[in-house]
Amino acid sequence: PKVIYVGSDGPEYTVDATVGDSVMAAAVRNGVPGIVAECGGNQSCATCHVWVREEFAPLVGPPGDMEDDLLDLAVAERRDTSRLSCQIRLTRELDGLTVDIPPEQP
Ligand code: FES
Repeated sequence: PKVIYVGSDGPEYTVDATVGDSVMAAAVRNGVPGIVAECGGNQSCATCHVWVREEFAPLVGPPGDMEDDLLDLAVAERRDTSRLSCQIRLTRELDGLTVDIPPEQP
């Protein structure tokens, strides 16, 4: 599936990802800036925060409990569509998934 990452100041990155990849791993492997993923996907850093585009939100679903707590600690504003990208697994149905990268993610 393709994933499109939209940077806060405009640039878009389209990545060809593999089913089963996380949205975070696909970004890191392809050098998409702004997804820091300090903890490497262990659901403990919140530096992989993204905003899922409205039209994909129902497909992606809501965050889990631990993720939900961690999202409150994310540096950028939390929105209804906030997710930790390390917790989104790619499926074929998610082809074209578009996420916005928050402006700062130390
Ligand atoms: Fe650390 Fe997702 S990579 S919480």
